[in-house]
Amino acid sequence: MNTSLIDVPRGLAGVAVASTSVGEVRGEEGFYHYRGHSAVELARSGSFEAVWELLLGTPPDGAARNLPPVLGGVVDRLDLRSALSFLAASMGLRALVDESPEERRADAHHVVAALPTLVASLQRGTVVTPRPELGHAADYLGMVTGEPPSAELARALEQYWILTVDHGFNASTFTARVIASTGADLGACVVGGLGALSGPRHGGSPSRVLDMLDAVAACGDAHAWLQDELRAGRRLMGFGHAVYRAPDPRSELLREVATAIAPERAALARRVELAALELLAGRRLVTNVELYAAVVLEACGIPRRWFTGTFACSRVVGWCAHALEQAEDSKIIRPDAHYVGDPPAA
Ligand code: ACO
Repeated sequence: MNTSLIDVPRGLAGVAVASTSVGEVRGEEGFYHYRGHSAVELARSGSFEAVWELLLGTPPDGAARNLPPVLGGVVDRLDLRSALSFLAASMGLRALVDESPEERRADAHHVVAALPTLVASLQRGTVVTPRPELGHAADYLGMVTGEPPSAELARALEQYWILTVDHGFNASTFTARVIASTGADLGACVVGGLGALSGPRHGGSPSRVLDMLDAVAACGDAHAWLQDELRAGRRLMGFGHAVYRAPDPRSELLREVATAIAPERAALARRVELAALELLAGRRLVTNVELYAAVVLEACGIPRRWFTGTFACSRVVGWCAHALEQAEDSKIIRPDAHYVGDPPAA
């Protein structure tokens, strides 16, 4: 074994691998912010567009929401990751290492603006036309449902999006930064981030939260159902967090939002939450963002299989802000590992 290597904790927990001015999560306090502004306060009273400008430096351009016409031939047969690669290629994004900061920022705006249209088009199986006069969240809901969006649901989705724009060095953001450190194009960073986000230990859990709520509703006894899950060695979806030890502030605001737009489902989620926290007591596991996010997304009419894609429409802002920041650093992120396999043949 190479003893000159520095060993870090499992999962890189508690290891600072970069400096950032994008945002910060204070897990012991149950607080996080974007460039010094409380994310929860922004979600209570701000707009998604203002948060976008805060993170990416310039305001969004509604005209950039349109998809390149070439997407029309493929949206009925691609999954999100493939379609996103296709979109990035059709935008002609260049390697970050070859671009000026202004060109990188222009790429970021283009990708962030077009992603909701892409996700909505994949859901509809045809390229949909955005309405730039609407806010991003309202426009997305309208494109997904094909109907004029309700102001109440559009605001609920907007609050969810503001809360999920960025969140420290989570797995997808770190992935995006690793790819940015190679000098690859911004599309590669975003596709990589999306891949990491899709896992159920990260952004892939809210559809499983709804499966859990359905199962608890059918069983009628939240405590018994959750206890069986834990006894079977399974994790409870929507609970636990790598950083939060105090309550996750996202879940607290989303509980309010969910209760306002889907009171019955939110009440079921609350029963599940109280039973889960009782069963998990002593393990310092909190309710995370996904429990009530699932209720909010369902109430907004988003099909479960598109929950992660809808999450990506906000987190893409954070991935791009981090990728642009990482692109300023010429050092590639390239850690090492202890080799523990068979020794080389003599
Ligand atoms: N249910 C039951 N037990 C759990 C749960 C849970 N939800 N979460 C953690 N534990 C247990 C684990 O078994 C772990 O013990 P082990 O290492 O012996 O397996 C112990 O608690 C300690 O876990 P942590 O170190 O605190 O958790 P970690 O940082 O590894 O994982 C994670 C955090 C992935 C969020 C985890 O809590 C989990 O899988 N939760 C369920 C899925 C989920 O809700 N994902 C969404 C996360 S939010 C987001 O990414 C947007």
